[in-house]
Amino acid sequence: MDLGILELTEEQNMIVEQVRTFAQKEIAPKAAEIDQTGRFPKELVQAMGAMGLMGLCVDTEYDGAGLDYLTYALVGEEINAACASTGVIFSAHNSLACGPIKKWGNDEQKKKWLAPMARGEKIGAFALSEPGSGSDAGALICTCKKEGDHYIINGTKNWITNGPESDVVILLATMSTELKHKGVCAFIVDKNTPGLSVGKVEHKLGIRGSGTSQLIFENVKVPASQMLGKEGDGFKIAMATLDGGRIGIAAQAIGIGRAALDAAKKFAHERETFGKPIAKHQGIQFMFADMATKLDAARLLNYRAARMQDRGMKFTKEAAMAKLFASEAANFICDKGLQIHGGYGYVNEYSAERHYRDQRITEIYEGTSEIQRIVIASAELAEHVR
Ligand code: CAA
Repeated sequence: MDLGILELTEEQNMIVEQVRTFAQKEIAPKAAEIDQTGRFPKELVQAMGAMGLMGLCVDTEYDGAGLDYLTYALVGEEINAACASTGVIFSAHNSLACGPIKKWGNDEQKKKWLAPMARGEKIGAFALSEPGSGSDAGALICTCKKEGDHYIINGTKNWITNGPESDVVILLATMSTELKHKGVCAFIVDKNTPGLSVGKVEHKLGIRGSGTSQLIFENVKVPASQMLGKEGDGFKIAMATLDGGRIGIAAQAIGIGRAALDAAKKFAHERETFGKPIAKHQGIQFMFADMATKLDAARLLNYRAARMQDRGMKFTKEAAMAKLFASEAANFICDKGLQIHGGYGYVNEYSAERHYRDQRITEIYEGTSEIQRIVIASAELAEHVR
């Protein structure tokens, strides 16, 4: 897609260009190996930190790059088009961990926690889901009990992206389950705090280079000064954080979709059947038409959501629409991309099968497609009928 239509600033164009070059030269050649070995790409995270990508939207005062959310969406596409494992490490760190400290942290918390995260020295994670609560986030049972100037945390968190490698965890816990979502508090937790350990590390279908694990809290003592906002603010902090996170996952789906589309195009020009390249068959051409249209529609939805976030507008519905559409578009594109490859799409000699596996999670994490539909419908139906 020609980005000219977005009327980006010179700085935005330059950053997208720089990240594209970096992603294609440094990240993309390692993507297959990262997927096959399932190793965490530490050196790429360090390189992203050196480029300012680990604090992309963090204010320069706290060592971030001070860029806007549209740039975040564009950069996210570039990284994910190269490697979706690296992409989700980038996204969970920026949106889910840096995001809430940027928005709700006080100056002291930003200096202590956010600045080293923005420099890429410390990796962040976001701990909301639990073994018994995912979509129904308000049903969490991990507890925080106040004792003097500390809170004592007990519980288990599940499906935590960057869980094994993180240094800083944004934790959601409840003062009392009877208070429902009004009892939830958000904390910044040092991963090295005694009593906090990494539980089961998951073996996944895709994004295999990003660590996903349980985090287990056993009488973990967290200073009250590490609370974000005030008691009871946690659920809203989590929901608003996920609004921004969904732009990151939409960007991931778009990046994976672009990579799948590009791979399929290359293959369709090279592979011949019935005396001509398969790109010349109308059955294949129609697939490309639908893939390209869905990809651009996903981009436009996501750019709108990001621009609204930049303008300080409420963007909950638009982010949910972008995430829903982009993830389902990526599913379609990766499926057709694999189909275009025929038998070669089913084996790991080509990247089509990796894109197909990597994409699938974008319809699940940071709110399933079903949750996005709930969010969109409730916002839509609350609006006046025109
Ligand atoms: N921003 C701010 N506040 C919000 C909000 C938002 N986007 N959405 C809801 N709220 C507020 C509501 O206004 C309401 O406030 P009041 O009490 O003042 O009225 C309060 O939160 C409760 O809202 P609901 O009644 O709508 O809450 P609910 O319990 O019905 O849940 C839900 C709504 C949308 C289904 C929510 O539970 C949800 O988003 N679930 C999905 C959770 C999710 O995305 N999990 C992914 C975890 S992260 C991850 O994937 C792991 C990883 O590491 C990548």
